[in-house]
Amino acid sequence: MAKQASGSTNRPKKTFMAEISSSSGIAIYPGTFDPITNGHVDIITRSLRIFEQVIVAIAINQNKTPLFSLEERIGLIQQCFAANNRVKVGTVSGLIVDYALKQNACAIVRGLRAVSDFDYELQLALMNRKLERRVETVFLMTGFRWIYISSSIIKDAARYGGDVSGMVPAHVVTALRQKFNR
Ligand code: COA
Repeated sequence: MAKQASGSTNRPKKTFMAEISSSSGIAIYPGTFDPITNGHVDIITRSLRIFEQVIVAIAINQNKTPLFSLEERIGLIQQCFAANNRVKVGTVSGLIVDYALKQNACAIVRGLRAVSDFDYELQLALMNRKLERRVETVFLMTGFRWIYISSSIIKDAARYGGDVSGMVPAHVVTALRQKFNR
């Protein structure tokens, strides 16, 4: 039998391994999605290589005044993944980590576009970890083609008649034209 160092007890040592639990295979991808862009679609599609199911969670953000209603945003996302039953759409009005636990998710997926995203994302990930250690944050680098895109910049271009096809799915182009009577 291995000799015990003096003063030690028989209690098993707490190791990092003890904290590892199995993956549920479910991830949450939160955001405002006003509207969903090809950059978001890219992150969701690539997340499906890692996770069995991705729940796109539309967060009710008090600091934003969305152009599209909640129902419209849900519909626009569902249309993107109509043929894929591994993508679900939900809404969240409280903490993302609470929602994640309720959905049995083991991770929150976030996309990083540029260095400028990093500070906020680090803060968010650390706060979420502080609030709930059972949910990990997983970062994916946004596809190079979508690095300059945001929902706001798309809306700005579309508002003044700019062509945003190729930056958002075709049905979103149509929805934007309808919103801005273009
Ligand atoms: N491609 C293109 N655009 C992207 C993108 C990508 N891969 N990833 C992000 N963006 C854009 C979005 O379109 C959005 O553009 P906008 O600001 O013009 O609308 C912008 O980047 C910000 O992205 P998003 O990730 O959607 O952030 P958000 O601020 O709308 O949402 C939440 C952030 C929902 C994750 C955060 O507010 C949250 O967790 N809220 C719930 C409360 C909570 O739990 N808070 C944390 C602990 S206090």
